[in-house]
Amino acid sequence: MPENLYILSDHSSKEDKYRNLIAQIDALISGEPDKIANLANVAAALKQTFGFFWVGFYLVKDGMLVLGPFQGPIACTRIEYGRGVCGTAWKEQKTIIVPDVSQFAGHIACSSESKSEIVVPMTSSGEITGVLDVDSNRLNDFDETDAVFLEKIVGKLKIES
Ligand code: SME
Repeated sequence: MPENLYILSDHSSKEDKYRNLIAQIDALISGEPDKIANLANVAAALKQTFGFFWVGFYLVKDGMLVLGPFQGPIACTRIEYGRGVCGTAWKEQKTIIVPDVSQFAGHIACSSESKSEIVVPMTSSGEITGVLDVDSNRLNDFDETDAVFLEKIVGKLKIES
């Protein structure tokens, strides 16, 4: 695997940064069968590239979302089905973008610094096996571009339940 992550300058577009990152994620995870190792490196690569406040995975275990590999401050360890943004993305089986977390009924505030959020479900054989959660300390930091590319990234991670 590569030793360093190559990150485009701040003058580059978000799309180009994602494209550049995805090419490297392929190299990062290819040949490594361990789920936790790959989730950990993908969380780190996203955090390094975009400087998001918090990037991490919650994995479905015994009917709950349980905290997995992440980068950022400590976070809630368990989230119930249908609760918070993560549990809602799991229940509705779709990506959810929250421009202002204070406006999302039931948002679970692991940190008061988190202002906007995107949650992308991970699927294996039609079942939700976890979610990717990305938080920003700025309002309205995520859009359809993030949804499209984060879904591509999650699609590369073959996570069995
Ligand atoms: N805000 C999330 C909880 C996880 S933390 O943001 C890391 C939610 O409402 O599900």
